[in-house]
Amino acid sequence: MTNDPTAKTLAELGVADASGVVRLFTDVRNRFTSELEAKQSANDWEELRGAWVGRKSGMLTRITDNWLKPAKPELKRTVGQALNELKAHVEAALESRRATIEAAVDIAALAREREDLSLPGVVRPLGSRHPLRQTLDEIEGIFLSLGYSVVAGPEMETPYYNFEALNIPEHHPARDNMDTFYMATPPGSAPLLLRTHTSPMQVRTMEKHQPPVRIIVPGKVYRRDNPDATHGFMFHQIEGLAVDTDITFCDFKGTVEYFVREFLGPNVKTRLRPSYFPFTEPSVEVDATCVFCGGRGCNVCKQSGWIELFGAGMVDPAVYGFVKYDAKKLSGFAFGLGVERLTQLKYNINDLQLYFQNDVRFLRQFS
Ligand code: FA5
Repeated sequence: MTNDPTAKTLAELGVADASGVVRLFTDVRNRFTSELEAKQSANDWEELRGAWVGRKSGMLTRITDNWLKPAKPELKRTVGQALNELKAHVEAALESRRATIEAAVDIAALAREREDLSLPGVVRPLGSRHPLRQTLDEIEGIFLSLGYSVVAGPEMETPYYNFEALNIPEHHPARDNMDTFYMATPPGSAPLLLRTHTSPMQVRTMEKHQPPVRIIVPGKVYRRDNPDATHGFMFHQIEGLAVDTDITFCDFKGTVEYFVREFLGPNVKTRLRPSYFPFTEPSVEVDATCVFCGGRGCNVCKQSGWIELFGAGMVDPAVYGFVKYDAKKLSGFAFGLGVERLTQLKYNINDLQLYFQNDVRFLRQFS
């Protein structure tokens, strides 16, 4: 430090009495004050601290070495006292500055990290139930309100439940309509297949429960069909079964009409067309007036005014034989709804494959 009085002893500075000592210390203190004022940053503080209280070569160490130690005995006390005061002042001022700098750093960090709670949040798009799930829920609701219970069954089935107990023996031509996925099973063990319809649950339910029976069975079914606009190799059906001592064809017709009106709207009419299923007799195909043209004729209904909805019929007495029900005392009806097709009709969806492609532009329309 040029012009640094602490580089010299008191004698070299010409200070010979107490008032000279006091003046000298006042100068040093003023010098500290002006340096402190000039330096404001955290780095400056480190520098200032080193220059003044650094052990080896700080100002206070130099004062001790050059002024106090060699001072004449009559000045030692005054120098010592002034040095202590200076030291206390420098340390207190440095400490107070450090606190100020730290507080400023904290305030700056808080300002930088401040969250603006008034900013609008990130709006995440809400998912919605899949259109097939919506149809399943809606149909379940309709039948629950009629007193039916919802039951589930295995997707992997035996040929017995999927075919034989439904009056479809081996080599029966009806098996050809339901091209079946067979599981790879060890030689000698019972064959297993992926159920081709939900009808096996008719048999499983009647085996376990005595009438009255009133159930619906929603679930996945599988067929070796080539995927196209109206076919999937996996699709959903809802089986319905009602068996009691006095169920007539009228009950069946009333139930079907009620369901169609609830599902497609009050203006839709139904008709029953003769059909064939090995497990119902008589069997029918349920048609409804076309929901798109109101029955006048359009492209969807191929100008007929009617669209085919699902297959159904009165339970064939042969099936009761497989579950040990008394066919003479009991009667009932069954139906099998194709959930994909009913959803297509309800929302005018022209391609069944859209259900399985997870394209949000399609799915968003059902939220
Ligand atoms: C049956 O599966 C019978 N079990 C229905 C039944 C139950 C009749 C109870 C009588 C009493 P079917 O093979 O027609 O019948 O199929 C029923 C419905 O499944 C069809 O009307 C159609 O909507 C739907 N369906 C059939 N195959 C496919 C497929 N590959 N993809 C999508 N839906 C299909």
